[in-house]
Amino acid sequence: MHNNPLPKYHSSVFFVSDVEKSKKFYKDILGQKIEMDFGRCIGFSGGFFGKILAKGMARGHKDFYKNAVKAINPKNDDEYLEIGFGSGIFINRYMSHVSRIAGIDHSEDMVKLASDINRKLVESGKAEFRQGYASSLPWADNEFTVVAAIEVFFFLNETEKTLREIFRVLKPGGKLIIEMGFNKDDGVDHKRHIKKMNLKLYSGEEMKKLLKKAGFNDIVIDYYKAFWIPIKGYVVPKGMVVKGIKK
Ligand SMILES: C[S@@+](CC[C@H](N)C(=O)[O-])C[C@H]1O[C@@H](n2cnc3c(N)ncnc32)[C@H](O)[C@@H]1O
Repeated sequence: MHNNPLPKYHSSVFFVSDVEKSKKFYKDILGQKIEMDFGRCIGFSGGFFGKILAKGMARGHKDFYKNAVKAINPKNDDEYLEIGFGSGIFINRYMSHVSRIAGIDHSEDMVKLASDINRKLVESGKAEFRQGYASSLPWADNEFTVVAAIEVFFFLNETEKTLREIFRVLKPGGKLIIEMGFNKDDGVDHKRHIKKMNLKLYSGEEMKKLLKKAGFNDIVIDYYKAFWIPIKGYVVPKGMVVKGIKK
């Protein structure tokens, strides 16, 4: 059970927990230049502003996506579940050829936006986007060949429960991919981000232990370098991609 109500207005393109926080975060990172209420814009989810903002965010996440998709290596017969899909642009761009797509996100606005951005996939019955929490997946055991979480894991509170849930819904032989631009191995002082966004950062060793505890095997931690917001010269020096297999 969760004590927090499901958020209605998604919290901006950066997905912090509420509109006020997202405005403050945006002002901080863009040097007071942005006064707009992003939370409400994204509230037009599926509308013009929602899509523009989502595309802006997808551009910022380009390197995260590239490294995640390399690890996922999606095949036509994959049955794919994404945790915290946000705009759904990653799915639209890289996953539309797989045989089945499912997603869960706790933001109602993101569910609307991702459903709109992937309208054809939803209408054809190939994709479903559900509102809910990562720690309580509304799918049966052994349904998916791949589960991915891109720029999400550091927001989660119930990480052990979430990993057990992911393990449960994966088919034997299925893989989990977790991508995180920020982590404890990257040599950056993240105090500001941790405080502002309530992030929980992990080292590769900590991720290995967590995945092992949930039952995963063949755990591999890879790192990559990325530019997050090129206009600000904001570099992610050592993004992390975690892979684990359900044997
Ligand atoms: C930074 S965004 C990343 C979105 C997307 N994966 C991408 O990279 O474009 C994080 C997403 O995770 C969702 N999220 C955060 N905590 C969650 C939870 N406990 N369960 C489900 N979704 C969650 C947020 O609503 C948001 O859409």
